[in-house]
Amino acid sequence: MRRFTPLFLAVFALFSAACEKKSQPTPAGTDSQGQAAQPAPTGGTPPAADTLLLGEVSSLTGSQATFGVSTQRGVELAVKEANAAGGVKGKKLAVRVYDNQSKPEEAAQATTRLVTQDKVLVILGDVASSNSLAMAEKAQAAGVPMITPASTNPSVTEKGDYIFRVCFIDPFQGFVMAKFARENLKLDQVAVLQDNKSAYSIGLKEVFTQKFSEMGGKVLTTESYSQGDTDFRAQLTAIKKTKPQAIYVPGYYNDVGLVARQARELGLSVPLLGGDGWDSEKLFELAGDALDGAYFSNHYSPQNPDERVKKFIADYTAAYGGTPDAIAALAYDSARVAIAGIEKSKDLTGASIRDAIAQTKDFPGVAGTITLDEKRNPVKSAVILKVGEGKANFVTTVKP
Ligand code: PHE
Repeated sequence: MRRFTPLFLAVFALFSAACEKKSQPTPAGTDSQGQAAQPAPTGGTPPAADTLLLGEVSSLTGSQATFGVSTQRGVELAVKEANAAGGVKGKKLAVRVYDNQSKPEEAAQATTRLVTQDKVLVILGDVASSNSLAMAEKAQAAGVPMITPASTNPSVTEKGDYIFRVCFIDPFQGFVMAKFARENLKLDQVAVLQDNKSAYSIGLKEVFTQKFSEMGGKVLTTESYSQGDTDFRAQLTAIKKTKPQAIYVPGYYNDVGLVARQARELGLSVPLLGGDGWDSEKLFELAGDALDGAYFSNHYSPQNPDERVKKFIADYTAAYGGTPDAIAALAYDSARVAIAGIEKSKDLTGASIRDAIAQTKDFPGVAGTITLDEKRNPVKSAVILKVGEGKANFVTTVKP
């Protein structure tokens, strides 16, 4: 691990501030071998001979910043554990992390940098499907395996045979909420509010609408917003006129928090329904009590009494404080699947590591057991959570 003097750090800070181009991903400063993060000089430094380097692209800043922070922690925890257990193939692991500022263009550039300059063995990331789609193009073209912890849009792994995920996909997630809305909540008529800038939101809206209709329900209207909008009143007013029994909002937490508040202000008191994109501590800060009684589907609940989950939560809390969200759990799982693949692969070429990851079977993840199918997706259960008392409470598990 490099050590830097304060003078060097000061000079480095000036130097990097001067060099930083807007279009370039900023190294998040984290070659991590299980110790405190150190700044990486300019990115693009080759790994030390005794180190196996993983890459990570995360939204550490920007509109979905909690996604990136959770990912980084989950990955770091897995790497620390692997290093404490002696490393892999006789070497220590390190992670080079780049921030994509919650933007697909930045995610693509960061991926290119990881494959061309850093020469990482496997890439972990991202969470938002639109970012992972941009990354997958680059990873596939370079023949470097990529595992997205949490991107659920089916097209991500369809980008090619180097692209994997450790979470369920949206044809299942959309079905789960449609079924819960029909069978448990006994809803007949709902409205949908989608984010038309997000591959995830559009995909989930489509599946939900199709499944809810097939089950005899009716989607009265579908309104749209664009990620980052702050005024949803026009769409909510149009929705209110149709008198829905609930509103399905398959968006990200930063937008959903505001949607919830504005819906209540407009006198729309029916429950909101959503998907994994709601999963962030920030959701409850943004929404206040406006989301009380809302339901969303997710990958895991920290209230799961399973021993493996309890240990993960205890380790995470000891390291970072707070309770790990689903992204932290999935990121931890994705790093462990990557590490197991590197351990098992016959050499360190992209093709061998890819072949080893593709064999993942009955892998004990903290967000469910992982067996990858021929399309490089696992088949996993989902949970339904209900919002109340400033948190998400476990309601039920839905099996595939
Ligand atoms: N599934 C979301 C997507 O594909 C990302 C996400 C996963 C967000 C888990 C929160 C929790 O865009």
